[in-house]
Amino acid sequence: MSFARLSGTGSYLPERVMTNAELEALVDTNDEWIRERTGIQQRHIVGDDETTCDIAEHAARRALTAAGRSPSDVDLIVFATTTPDRIFPATACLLQARLGIHGCTAFDVQAVCTGFVYALGIADRFIRTGGARCALVVGAETLSRIVDWTDRGTCVLFGDGAGAVVLEESKGAGIHSTHLHADGHYADLLHVPRDSTDDPAGNEMPGGYIRMKGNEVFRMATNTLGRIVDETLLANGLEKRDIDWLVPHQANIRIIAATARKLNLPLERVIVTVERHGNTSAASIPLALDVGIRDERIQRGDMVLLEAFGGGFTWGSALLTY
Ligand code: COA
Repeated sequence: MSFARLSGTGSYLPERVMTNAELEALVDTNDEWIRERTGIQQRHIVGDDETTCDIAEHAARRALTAAGRSPSDVDLIVFATTTPDRIFPATACLLQARLGIHGCTAFDVQAVCTGFVYALGIADRFIRTGGARCALVVGAETLSRIVDWTDRGTCVLFGDGAGAVVLEESKGAGIHSTHLHADGHYADLLHVPRDSTDDPAGNEMPGGYIRMKGNEVFRMATNTLGRIVDETLLANGLEKRDIDWLVPHQANIRIIAATARKLNLPLERVIVTVERHGNTSAASIPLALDVGIRDERIQRGDMVLLEAFGGGFTWGSALLTY
């Protein structure tokens, strides 16, 4: 029996930082409200000519360097994104070409904010069943392109960024389990309508931008993430005290704090980046993981729980020994 072990991480944030003060000039909001209700102080925004593949390439190369691998070692690319460069080909294929690799399996995963956990779960199954030995798993987003900058209920929340991990076949423990769920009955609470005719409520609204019923999503996210913590611990025969680090999807500090409370974990054992990155959807977990590993809070041998909730609804978790 082989495991998939995390051998390297990398991340990248676009240079431009947008503060809450800048948002005050765009919509009727203020720094105090945004900090109190979400924990967010700033977010990064891509430049006009910067694409999802561009920022992913930086993160991927950093992850490969950290793993001591070269692009030619990669035999699987799983790329989680809601903001692909093109409808097709998959951004995974564009990244593959950038890295100068030919022939390996490469595809995108669309599970919105749970995308990275889905991608990790898929790559883990490939490796455990002998379908791959060295996988590049990426989460990258240019959400600023699908944010409605006139909607104060959403535009204050999101940011751009990229994270990547290298997963390798290993005899010793790495990923213990992943738990992936979806319920499409909630599709309309958080979605990007195709055009003005694609609104279930019959409102005339422009398509192509994020629409969200914030407090309904908030309630569902908090309850669902509490349940997935129990499911993950039970599946592995573990107790709450066995978890060393929580690396949650970074949507809102209040959702993160509720999950930490559920685990009896103090916030010091949670990697929190939401204040600096905002919600970067599929990129938020690999970004936070890279921060926690590079600043040496997360050490080899630590038990780490990743969890996410997002549009779909989708939700999921991964438990791993780093
Ligand atoms: N600035 C100032 N006021 C704002 C605001 C903003 N940016 N956005 C909303 N408000 C106002 C609302 O209009 C409302 O005013 P009203 O009472 O006069 O109608 C008030 O603040 C409360 O709004 P509400 O939506 O109930 O706030 P909230 O406490 O639920 O916080 C979110 C809003 C979006 C921060 C919160 O619901 C949230 O984080 N939801 C989940 C988001 C999420 O996780 N999404 C992605 C899933 S991956």
